[in-house]
Amino acid sequence: MSESQAKTLMLKTSEDVVRMRQAVRELAIELGFGLVDQTKLVTAASELARNTIQYGGGGEVALETLINSARHGICLTFSDQGPGIADIDLAMKDGYTSGTGLGLGLGGAKRLSNEFHIVSAVGVGTRVIIKRWR
Ligand SMILES: Nc1ncnc2c1ncn2[C@@H]1O[C@H](COP(=O)(O)OP(=O)(O)OP(=O)(O)O)[C@@H](O)[C@H]1O
Ligand SMILES: [Mg+2]
Repeated sequence: MSESQAKTLMLKTSEDVVRMRQAVRELAIELGFGLVDQTKLVTAASELARNTIQYGGGGEVALETLINSARHGICLTFSDQGPGIADIDLAMKDGYTSGTGLGLGLGGAKRLSNEFHIVSAVGVGTRVIIKRWR
Protein backbone atom coordinates (compact mmCIF):
# COMPACT_ATOMS: atom_id res chain seq x y z
CA MET A 1 0.00 0.00 0.00
CA SER A 2 1.37 3.40 -0.86
CA GLU A 3 -0.06 6.48 0.77
CA SER A 4 0.60 9.91 -0.55
CA GLN A 5 -0.13 13.08 1.32
CA ALA A 6 -2.15 15.19 -1.07
CA LYS A 7 -2.80 18.17 1.16
CA THR A 8 -3.96 19.56 4.47
CA LEU A 9 -6.70 22.16 4.55
CA MET A 10 -7.67 24.45 7.40
CA LEU A 11 -11.27 24.25 8.64
CA LYS A 12 -12.45 27.41 10.32
CA THR A 13 -15.15 28.98 8.19
CA SER A 14 -17.96 27.90 5.87
CA GLU A 15 -15.76 29.02 2.96
CA ASP A 16 -13.20 26.46 4.13
CA VAL A 17 -15.92 23.79 3.90
CA VAL A 18 -16.65 24.84 0.30
CA ARG A 19 -12.93 24.64 -0.57
CA MET A 20 -12.63 21.25 1.11
CA ARG A 21 -15.65 19.90 -0.77
CA GLN A 22 -14.03 20.99 -4.06
CA ALA A 23 -10.66 19.45 -3.13
CA VAL A 24 -12.26 16.13 -2.11
CA ARG A 25 -14.34 16.04 -5.30
CA GLU A 26 -11.26 16.77 -7.45
CA LEU A 27 -9.19 14.08 -5.75
CA ALA A 28 -12.03 11.56 -6.15
CA ILE A 29 -12.32 12.37 -9.86
CA GLU A 30 -8.53 12.05 -10.24
CA LEU A 31 -8.69 8.57 -8.73
CA GLY A 32 -11.52 7.52 -11.02
CA PHE A 33 -14.41 7.51 -8.52
CA GLY A 34 -17.83 7.51 -10.16
CA LEU A 35 -20.31 10.30 -9.51
CA VAL A 36 -22.20 8.40 -6.80
CA ASP A 37 -19.02 7.55 -4.88
CA GLN A 38 -17.73 11.12 -5.25
CA THR A 39 -20.96 12.44 -3.80
CA LYS A 40 -20.99 9.97 -0.91
CA LEU A 41 -17.45 10.95 0.07
CA VAL A 42 -18.09 14.69 -0.31
CA THR A 43 -21.27 14.40 1.78
CA ALA A 44 -19.51 12.49 4.57
CA ALA A 45 -16.65 15.00 4.49
CA SER A 46 -19.07 17.94 4.74
CA GLU A 47 -20.70 16.53 7.87
CA LEU A 48 -17.35 15.93 9.55
CA ALA A 49 -16.03 19.35 8.54
CA ARG A 50 -19.15 21.01 9.97
CA ASN A 51 -18.60 19.16 13.26
CA THR A 52 -14.93 20.16 13.33
CA ILE A 53 -15.94 23.81 13.01
CA GLN A 54 -19.12 23.79 15.10
CA TYR A 55 -18.05 21.61 18.03
CA GLY A 56 -14.28 21.39 17.67
CA GLY A 57 -13.76 25.13 17.36
CA GLY A 58 -12.05 24.64 14.01
CA GLY A 59 -9.23 22.37 12.95
CA GLU A 60 -7.96 20.79 9.79
CA VAL A 61 -8.47 17.96 7.35
CA ALA A 62 -5.72 15.88 5.73
CA LEU A 63 -6.47 14.37 2.31
CA GLU A 64 -4.49 11.27 1.36
CA THR A 65 -4.67 8.87 -1.53
CA LEU A 66 -4.39 5.15 -0.85
CA ILE A 67 -3.06 3.14 -3.74
CA ASN A 68 -2.17 -0.52 -3.99
CA SER A 69 -2.26 -3.05 -6.79
CA ALA A 70 -5.86 -4.02 -6.03
CA ARG A 71 -7.62 -0.73 -5.37
CA HIS A 72 -7.55 3.01 -5.02
CA GLY A 73 -9.02 4.97 -2.18
CA ILE A 74 -9.11 8.22 -0.29
CA CYS A 75 -8.42 8.74 3.40
CA LEU A 76 -9.64 11.89 5.12
CA THR A 77 -8.53 12.78 8.65
CA PHE A 78 -10.40 15.53 10.50
CA SER A 79 -8.60 16.86 13.58
CA ASP A 80 -9.44 19.47 16.13
CA GLN A 81 -8.20 20.48 19.56
CA GLY A 82 -11.65 21.25 20.89
CA PRO A 83 -13.45 19.94 23.98
CA GLY A 84 -13.53 16.32 22.80
CA ILE A 85 -16.43 13.86 23.09
CA ALA A 86 -17.10 12.28 26.50
CA ASP A 87 -19.37 9.47 25.24
CA ILE A 88 -18.59 8.41 21.68
CA ASP A 89 -21.33 5.73 21.56
CA LEU A 90 -23.89 8.36 22.46
CA ALA A 91 -22.50 10.87 19.95
CA MET A 92 -22.69 8.23 17.21
CA LYS A 93 -26.40 7.53 17.86
CA ASP A 94 -28.72 8.84 15.18
CA GLY A 95 -30.77 11.65 16.66
CA TYR A 96 -28.32 12.58 19.42
CA THR A 97 -27.17 16.18 19.32
CA SER A 98 -25.69 18.37 22.01
CA GLY A 99 -26.63 21.38 19.90
CA THR A 100 -29.51 22.17 17.58
CA GLY A 101 -28.65 19.75 14.78
CA LEU A 102 -30.50 16.62 13.75
CA GLY A 103 -27.82 14.41 15.25
CA LEU A 104 -27.33 12.59 11.97
CA GLY A 105 -23.87 13.79 10.95
CA LEU A 106 -21.59 11.17 12.50
CA GLY A 107 -23.86 8.20 11.76
CA GLY A 108 -24.44 9.45 8.23
CA ALA A 109 -20.72 9.94 7.62
CA LYS A 110 -20.07 6.40 8.86
CA ARG A 111 -22.69 4.91 6.55
CA LEU A 112 -21.28 6.83 3.57
CA SER A 113 -17.73 5.57 4.23
CA ASN A 114 -16.10 2.17 3.84
CA GLU A 115 -14.04 2.67 7.01
CA PHE A 116 -14.73 5.00 9.90
CA HIS A 117 -12.65 5.60 13.02
CA ILE A 118 -13.15 8.16 15.75
CA VAL A 119 -10.74 8.97 18.55
CA SER A 120 -11.54 11.64 21.08
CA ALA A 121 -10.35 12.72 24.49
CA VAL A 122 -12.09 15.25 26.71
CA GLY A 123 -10.07 18.44 26.89
CA VAL A 124 -7.70 17.27 24.17
CA GLY A 125 -9.67 17.05 20.94
CA THR A 126 -11.20 14.80 18.34
CA ARG A 127 -9.94 12.95 15.30
CA VAL A 128 -12.20 11.26 12.76
CA ILE A 129 -10.67 9.16 9.99
CA ILE A 130 -12.70 7.92 7.03
CA LYS A 131 -11.74 5.89 4.00
CA ARG A 132 -13.65 5.25 0.84
CA TRP A 133 -12.47 2.86 -1.85
CA ARG A 134 -13.19 3.22 -5.54
N1 LIG B 1 -15.43 17.42 16.58
C1 LIG B 1 -16.26 17.32 17.61
N2 LIG B 1 -15.91 17.79 18.84
C2 LIG B 1 -16.73 17.71 19.91
N3 LIG B 1 -17.96 17.15 19.85
C3 LIG B 1 -18.36 16.65 18.66
C4 LIG B 1 -17.55 16.71 17.49
N4 LIG B 1 -18.23 16.12 16.49
C5 LIG B 1 -19.40 15.73 16.99
N5 LIG B 1 -19.50 16.04 18.30
C6 LIG B 1 -20.62 15.73 19.21
O1 LIG B 1 -21.37 14.68 18.65
C7 LIG B 1 -22.73 15.07 18.51
C8 LIG B 1 -23.33 14.37 17.31
O2 LIG B 1 -22.73 14.86 16.11
P1 LIG B 1 -23.55 14.73 14.74
O3 LIG B 1 -22.76 15.31 13.65
O4 LIG B 1 -23.99 13.29 14.61
O5 LIG B 1 -24.86 15.58 15.03
P2 LIG B 1 -25.01 17.18 15.10
O6 LIG B 1 -23.80 17.83 14.53
O7 LIG B 1 -25.39 17.52 16.50
O8 LIG B 1 -26.24 17.39 14.12
P3 LIG B 1 -26.22 17.34 12.52
O9 LIG B 1 -24.84 16.87 12.09
O10 LIG B 1 -27.27 16.34 12.14
O11 LIG B 1 -26.51 18.72 12.09
C9 LIG B 1 -22.69 16.58 18.41
O12 LIG B 1 -23.92 17.15 18.78
C10 LIG B 1 -21.57 16.91 19.39
O13 LIG B 1 -22.03 16.86 20.72
MG1 LIG C 1 -22.93 17.24 12.75
